[in-house]
Amino acid sequence: MNQEMRAIPQEWHEQIISLLAERIVVTDCSGIILYINEAYCEFLGTTVDQAINRPVQDVIENTRMHIVAKTGKKELAAIHPINGSEMIANRFPLVIDGEIVGALGTVMFRSPEEWRMYKSKIQHLVEELKYYKTKVEKELKSKYHFQDLIGESPNFLATKKLAERISASHSSVLLIGESGTGKELFAHAIHNNSQRASFPFVAINCTSIPEHLLESELFGYDDGAFTGAKKGGKKGQFEIAHNGTLFLDEIGDMPLSMQSKLLRVLQEKEVQRVGGQKSIPIDVRIVAATHRDLEKMVKEGTFRQDLYYRLNVIKIEIPPLRERETDIPLISRTLLKKLGGKFFRKGIELGGEVQQRLIEHAWPGNIRELENVLERAINVLDGKTIEVSHLPLYLRDQEVGHELQSQARVDQTENHAVQVLPLKETLAKVEKEALIQALAVTRGNKRDAAKLLAIGKTSFYEKCKLYDIR
Ligand SMILES: Nc1ncnc2c1ncn2[C@@H]1O[C@H](COP(=O)(O)OP(=O)(O)OP(=O)(O)O)[C@@H](O)[C@H]1O
Ligand SMILES: [Mg+2]
Repeated sequence: MNQEMRAIPQEWHEQIISLLAERIVVTDCSGIILYINEAYCEFLGTTVDQAINRPVQDVIENTRMHIVAKTGKKELAAIHPINGSEMIANRFPLVIDGEIVGALGTVMFRSPEEWRMYKSKIQHLVEELKYYKTKVEKELKSKYHFQDLIGESPNFLATKKLAERISASHSSVLLIGESGTGKELFAHAIHNNSQRASFPFVAINCTSIPEHLLESELFGYDDGAFTGAKKGGKKGQFEIAHNGTLFLDEIGDMPLSMQSKLLRVLQEKEVQRVGGQKSIPIDVRIVAATHRDLEKMVKEGTFRQDLYYRLNVIKIEIPPLRERETDIPLISRTLLKKLGGKFFRKGIELGGEVQQRLIEHAWPGNIRELENVLERAINVLDGKTIEVSHLPLYLRDQEVGHELQSQARVDQTENHAVQVLPLKETLAKVEKEALIQALAVTRGNKRDAAKLLAIGKTSFYEKCKLYDIR
């Protein structure tokens, strides 16, 4: 325990230093070499005896050690050309009692060969990373099949049958459904059930791509199409999806100018890259999806009628969850199994009261909302059964609502005054609750929440501020 600290023997220092940094030099504050190791001397074509006590500039070409010893400013990872090869140099001032007494320098990569070795090792890793990235992307591309679409209610089964039947056709498909009803799942399933299954499934979300990038994203660009364009140009998603399926998600959010360009491609069956002359023939099947009322948009002039007709060859309307409430217990069980696997929590069940609650709820965010509610419940759950107390407030509050109402009735019969709040306050309460509920559905995504509530983003932000929400 109380051992004295043993000093490292003097004769070890040289070896330790050489192991820590292969090439090392130490100068005093006027740049005279006080120490330099053999490895460095060997590289410089000199010997320790010849180098020591000489000005560092005379021994090491292009050195800046004497400068660092003056300025006291360290220089890290500086490129240092020596003997025709580029070395990486680190230079540190040595400060004792607040005074610069000298400088310490190291250089990496003895020879260009060594540098190349490092480079090729990193290169290798970069390539590996690229490979895994594309592999993951591929696996992300089309992973759902019709058997993953859960539901046995007659209207859902009819929808699923229709989608299965039209999978093999080449005609465009328009998927209509509220947020979270499974539009993306249907698109995947249709692709996987078609002869195009072994070709790419490319998904594009028209909302998430800035308008000025959408064109080059869809059609690609040629060399020098604009400043900053990648050399050699870039393939667009249409080209990438060749022989496969292009899923245009949120097509209702596509700007009008792009709608015309898309229409032209669908008619001509060929694309022209931005800044390019050549026409590239394209064979893709279009599956488009939206939660918007496109017919209304056509009437309002915000969606091109001719494009609407082109896309609307096969229309599939996916019913919202509240129109297939008999499916709720089955979907919940499936989701619980899936989530149970994700969180390593097997055998989680729904309590009877909870099941009833879930069936009664209107589910504006549909299956995605249900998934979020169940995931949250699993996170706050200790045992195996989800009870009402594990549900988010807005689902628990239905109970409070019922209780208040019955309480009010009791109060009335007992001739007590019922507390009635000013209408403004009641409305504010309800509005705040609606905002919180929408945010719960969209996992805190304000943009989507505003969409769900069918109000503007700015107005949504203002209201959040007003009610002090997050
Ligand atoms: N029939 C279903 N059976 C099981 N899970 C489903 C079903 N439909 C959708 N889901 C799940 O619900 C979530 C939402 O589905 P999806 O992303 O396809 O909805 P969406 O209609 O594209 O929604 P949005 O309009 O918000 O993009 C996903 O996690 C998906 O796995
Ligand atoms: Mg979607």
